[in-house]
Amino acid sequence: MKAACGTDIQYASDLIKAGKLVAIPTETVYGLAANGLNEEAVLSIFKAKNRPDFDPLILHVANMEAAFALACEVPEMAKKLAEAFWPGPLTLVLPKKNTVPYVVSSGLETVGLRVPNHPLSLALLNALPFPLAAPSANPFGYISPTTAEHVMENLGNRVDYTLDGGPCAMGLESTIIGFENGEPVILRRGSLAKSAIEKVTGPISERINVSGNPKAPGQLSVHYAPRKKLVLINSETEISEEILNTPFTLLRFGSNLPYLKGKEALELNFSADANYSEAARKFYAMLREADAGNPELLVSAYITGHEMADAINDRLKRAATFNITTHE
Ligand code: TXA
Ligand code: MG
Repeated sequence: MKAACGTDIQYASDLIKAGKLVAIPTETVYGLAANGLNEEAVLSIFKAKNRPDFDPLILHVANMEAAFALACEVPEMAKKLAEAFWPGPLTLVLPKKNTVPYVVSSGLETVGLRVPNHPLSLALLNALPFPLAAPSANPFGYISPTTAEHVMENLGNRVDYTLDGGPCAMGLESTIIGFENGEPVILRRGSLAKSAIEKVTGPISERINVSGNPKAPGQLSVHYAPRKKLVLINSETEISEEILNTPFTLLRFGSNLPYLKGKEALELNFSADANYSEAARKFYAMLREADAGNPELLVSAYITGHEMADAINDRLKRAATFNITTHE
């Protein structure tokens, strides 16, 4: 009996070839991977995660050629973006070839493609003659995993093996770009900064759905959410009696929320130095820590004044979706 977790690429690739599920590390979050061209294996991903079948998966490949071999049409701009950012935290949504099963794309004619930047996953992908379908390796709607331990905690009995690549270097999911009338559009904010993308594309628009319309895949409003209630505070005047009368965990960024300092039962800081990359890297682990802590209430605030803050703020908003009272 092999260990449930380790760095054995050969073992991982044998399991995948046999139609099994293997959790894989990437630079963004851990993925729950299976043979992306095997319908049954792909269906078992949805089952393990409890994921609704209308939420399509990303196919992971070792390089640009392998990615574009799965698309029937590749805009010039997609090539430029791939050359600039792969391997890396960018997913391109392109018209799919017939070889990509509809279970992967949830019936859509497009497919999400990405070359992850992690040596273990690249080694695994290089050992396989097909792409890996992989959503984040968390139960549907829960906080994404950024360590092998997180995967084991939530899905330990549902994956056949976890490739342990250490903590994820970036910590938030890939940025997703699709094409509308040939023009690139950001569909999900993520680890790749909009300013970096715009150096390649010029000004780019966003089509981010926070309304919870399930027809806009992947952008369900309840997502990345702790089990506990999270309240986002925009200003001192929003501090309610509920907050003042309930023990709460204060999730800070640098020295924000100074007016709540001292009133909390537990303080966690995404980055005491207000360093955005550190906050992104630690974000999900800290939400998990807050969720596991004693206080039943979590209090945080949007990050302001940072070029990359949109991606974290997007996740904060989704995590607080049930009780949000204010908007960015
Ligand atoms: O960083 C990442 O992207 C991670 C790692 C594991 O690669 N993966 C990830 O997968 O975040 P997942 O399934 O948790 O989120 C993928 C998102 C989904 O919200 C899905 O709706 C969207 O990508 N997506 C996939 N295919 C799509 C398509 N054809 N059109 C629009 N959105 C799509
Ligand atoms: Mg996910």
